[in-house]
Amino acid sequence: MAKVLLGFMGAGKSTIARGLDPDYLDMDALIEKRLGMSIAEFFAEKGEEVFRQVESEVLAELLQRDQVVSTGGGVVISQRNRDLLKTNSDNIYLKADFETLYQRIAADKDNQRPLFLNNSKEELAAVFQERQAWYEEVASRVLDVTELSPEEIIEELR
Ligand code: S3P
Repeated sequence: MAKVLLGFMGAGKSTIARGLDPDYLDMDALIEKRLGMSIAEFFAEKGEEVFRQVESEVLAELLQRDQVVSTGGGVVISQRNRDLLKTNSDNIYLKADFETLYQRIAADKDNQRPLFLNNSKEELAAVFQERQAWYEEVASRVLDVTELSPEEIIEELR
């Protein structure tokens, strides 16, 4: 069964997935490979709705693999994705408070996230709030990572 890391942008999903298994599957990286461009470029060119369709296709494929998977923060938006997750994988929600996540996202110059670029802080906080129940709905385990180092989180999840 796939072990899936869920959480908002900046929660550390990829870092923790890599620490758990160097051969982890990175959903965003696989989506970018399929799109032939960065997620930010794709959002600008085709829009979020088409991105979400590709995201759902890639999720369905990855859940068939018996590996650690890091997801994009918006994977829980669709009911179909949530149902897929609930029935096919072991889902760990890396939970942190909005302010911590916002500071991390803002400081991350390597990853240009369209939702950060296109929304005010207040708008992003509303997106965060809206998603809480969805992460909790699919999570088999919720880990509050706000005060934990990556090493401590990896140790906790091993
Ligand atoms: C998104 C999160 C991003 C990426 C895309 C949309 C979101 O992934 O999938 O920019 O809707 O929260 P990360 O959570 O890895 O930043």
